[in-house]
Amino acid sequence: MYGLVNKAIEQMVCINHGKSTWEQIKAEAGVDATGFISNEPYPDDVTYRLVAAASKTLQAPAEDILKAFGEHWVLHTALESYGPMMRATGNNLRDFLIRLPHLHTRVELIYPELKPPQFACHEVGESELNLHYWTTRPPGLEPFVEGLVHGLGKMFDTPVRVELLQQRDENNDYSVFHVTWAEPA
Ligand code: HEM
Repeated sequence: MYGLVNKAIEQMVCINHGKSTWEQIKAEAGVDATGFISNEPYPDDVTYRLVAAASKTLQAPAEDILKAFGEHWVLHTALESYGPMMRATGNNLRDFLIRLPHLHTRVELIYPELKPPQFACHEVGESELNLHYWTTRPPGLEPFVEGLVHGLGKMFDTPVRVELLQQRDENNDYSVFHVTWAEPA
């Protein structure tokens, strides 16, 4: 994944646990980069190793690290560095999710070697929908998506619930989340 992703993990860890914890995590992951370059692609393995090492060092399940990272990604990385693109995607959670399938098409203009996730919305109601998620990457990213959607809920002051209905596995080539939300707070 592009260095931007690893950089965001670094930022999240440094904000919440300090720089020395980040150095410990990098050592545990066997990653010796002194700084990631945002627009350079790194092997996916680097990102997965950093998450596993953060899980071990912080004594928290990898799923919890990925959920926290999803929220951090929306509220810090995306909003701070790509605010106009985020705001142009939707004015409320429902519209944003409906347009989410097109977001990474725009991101690809900035990062041409992107291997983007694919999304589709089904059963769309006033306060619920089913979010379908395809990825070309190794298993385990569903909690990241959950965290991202929770981050979007916070972005729009909208309490949101995310439930995994179908997990990508040997029988299904995509995962499905049931997303429900309340009126904005
Ligand atoms: C403007 C905001 C955003 C930017 C710039 C951005 C950019 C990126 C980048 C660079 C990657 C790494 C992929 C690669 O290097 O091949 C990525 C992955 C990913 N993004 Fe975004 N993204 C944004 C918003 C979002 C949002 C709002 C979601 C919400 C669901 C999302 C879902 C994901 C997921 C799930 C992945 C993991 C890759 C995979 O599943 O295969 N992104 N994104």
